[in-house]
Amino acid sequence: MEMNNALKEILLSEEKIKSMVDGLAEQINKDYAGKKLFVIIILKGSFVFAADLVRKINLPLELDFMVVSSYGSGSQSSGIVKIVKDLNESIKGKNVLIIEDILDSGITLSNLMEVLKVRQPESLEICTLLNKPERRKTHVDAKYIGCDIPDEFIVGYGLDYDEKYRNLPYIGVLKEEIYK
Ligand code: IMP
Ligand code: MG
Repeated sequence: MEMNNALKEILLSEEKIKSMVDGLAEQINKDYAGKKLFVIIILKGSFVFAADLVRKINLPLELDFMVVSSYGSGSQSSGIVKIVKDLNESIKGKNVLIIEDILDSGITLSNLMEVLKVRQPESLEICTLLNKPERRKTHVDAKYIGCDIPDEFIVGYGLDYDEKYRNLPYIGVLKEEIYK
């Protein structure tokens, strides 16, 4: 497949992503064996990853979506988080796993964890496909991480720049002239 011309390089190929997803599912299947899972998919970015991951999880599972906005459409998180769409049901007493596309500053997930903890789930963990450790501004414990990536703006496999490129089947580094 030809690389989209807004990209500088392909960081993670379809094959590489698939093996990361398989690895994460294997850990989750093992850790939650004998339990029921309640999966929270954070829209929009996680929809592709979540669709692939949940199909590899062989446990009884329910899921719901949340939309969390950190205001603004650019490549920087503003630091303020707003719940745009909340869950439709209670998570009290449930084993909750949050599925996120990328952990960047950590502001979105650390805020969300605080909000969800108050609702008294039995357990609450994070599964993120990607992690940018250099960018962290606040502590977040993510139990499941697909891989660490360098501090570059990436798109594809659900991740966007200004709502574009979510449909690319691989993950690539956006050319700087596109967002600078
Ligand atoms: P955080 O609150 O800074 O951790 O931001 C997390 C959210 O920012 C993710 O769910 C993404 O929607 C977005 N984000 C962070 N880094 C990137 C990137 O490199 N490409 C696309 N979206 C990103
Ligand atoms: Mg985004």
